[in-house]
Amino acid sequence: MAVLATALLLLLFSASLSVSAAPILAPNLTLCHTPLSLPDEEEVFSCCAPDFGQPAVDFNMTEAAMAAATGKIRVRRAAHNMSDADAARLARAYAAMRALPVGDPRSYDQQANIHCAYCSACYQMGGISTPLQVHGSWLFFAFHRWYIYFHERILAKLIDDDTFYLPFWNYDHPDGMTVPYSYVQSSELRDDNREPACLPPATVFTDFYYYNATLRTEFEQIQANLATIYRQFVAAPDTPYRFYGQPYRAGDGPQPGYGTAETQPHNSLHGWTGNQKNLLAKDMGALYAAARDPIFYIHHVNIDRLWEVWRGLGRDDIDDPDYLDSEFVFYDENAQLVKVTVRDSYDTLKLGYAYEWVENQWLDLNLSTLSNGSLANMSMEGVSVCALGEPILETCSLLVSRNLSSANGGQETLVFEGIEGNVTNPSMFSVYMNLPEAHIHTMPDCVEYVGRFSAMAQPVQAEVQGTSAMKTSARFGIGQNIKDLKMEGEEDVVITVVPNMNNPLLPVSISSVWIEYELLPSQLRRNGGASGTSNYVRASR
Ligand code: C2O
Repeated sequence: MAVLATALLLLLFSASLSVSAAPILAPNLTLCHTPLSLPDEEEVFSCCAPDFGQPAVDFNMTEAAMAAATGKIRVRRAAHNMSDADAARLARAYAAMRALPVGDPRSYDQQANIHCAYCSACYQMGGISTPLQVHGSWLFFAFHRWYIYFHERILAKLIDDDTFYLPFWNYDHPDGMTVPYSYVQSSELRDDNREPACLPPATVFTDFYYYNATLRTEFEQIQANLATIYRQFVAAPDTPYRFYGQPYRAGDGPQPGYGTAETQPHNSLHGWTGNQKNLLAKDMGALYAAARDPIFYIHHVNIDRLWEVWRGLGRDDIDDPDYLDSEFVFYDENAQLVKVTVRDSYDTLKLGYAYEWVENQWLDLNLSTLSNGSLANMSMEGVSVCALGEPILETCSLLVSRNLSSANGGQETLVFEGIEGNVTNPSMFSVYMNLPEAHIHTMPDCVEYVGRFSAMAQPVQAEVQGTSAMKTSARFGIGQNIKDLKMEGEEDVVITVVPNMNNPLLPVSISSVWIEYELLPSQLRRNGGASGTSNYVRASR
């Protein structure tokens, strides 16, 4: 028996060795098919890009950079700061886009379809038959940057104005925390499938958790928004993988793991903006329908801007060639099919655009401290202990060892492995440190708040996997929490999980929780690229 087991292990081991990692290559448009498994109530439709049989040309970075250096740089401004003239120009550009014939890859519907095709397993990874999904992995930022890049250039070309820009929905600044008025007033920028309760003057809900916004005062919601952005862009992503999401290579299954910003504010604002009465809160709430709402694009312009702000913090970036050499295809402003790489997405000035400076108040935020310090002072009486592997139906806590003796100078990371649920609905839970009394409405502007797991509904995933079971993991950078709570010397921390099951959310189970220390790319390079660097200990129950 033992021999058999060893042989099996060896077999597994050599099998995994023989799969050499490779970047995800651009999909072949001719291999596109209708979305796999839409919700039952949805009529099947195709969102494949028109295929004229033309080969994609490589994006010419030198040419783009030359044009950017000699021409005008587009300065993307905050939507709430746009002049009336800029708002009118934006509406005009969208009117021109909506007027294009539907077979034109630059038309409004085809632009929306791009998102559907890249998120609904319509495409296969180039050269292999694995379905492609651009969400829930390290592809998230770069894919959307390119998407917006071409979308903006098409709009500019249609009105023949090379100073045209797409504004950003500045929902991380108190002045920008409503749906921009131009996106409500102009019929070109409106969408009838928005949640009525979210229209101005409602304050955006960047940590939307399917509860009525009126539970918080406007002041509290603004605080919650600033704290959410701070947590997701500054405190939690202390390694580039926390920020971008988990590695996703040729042949990998979809959605290996979300980056901090993709879950919040990204996913949460999708869920907040879509009409809750609609199936999966579409348009914005369902990935296959989201880009039918023009606000989708300015949501992503802000995500793109926040990516630049994060890069400005001077943190380590991913240097894995499988990431940098990942490819996508898009139709450009001349309806030419163009192949682009993640690598070429990095320099926005070379791509001809920049962002208007706005104050990022969340960069430097005062958080409150709700707990009373170390574990010794904490009453654990009446605290319910999480049952690992079982659906989490109520707030529960775990004592997790920090395994200080094996800390390797890496970033302290809280890992939730084996998160299981159902992909047909969204799911969500919040995580706190040393705050067992945390509850569903605890504000995120405290030092104990670790973050939130939030997955959008993915009916498509079910078909790809052959099951509607969701199986994923989540990782949270907790170095800042430890520091703020002055826990550096403590052996254990209390981790509290607050499940959210308000309709339409479904509960999840978690199979294990532990802390590991993850080396940064620069530390790995210094160590000569050693692999298997993380140390971890299982949660003590
Ligand atoms: Cu591709 Cu906002 O999602």
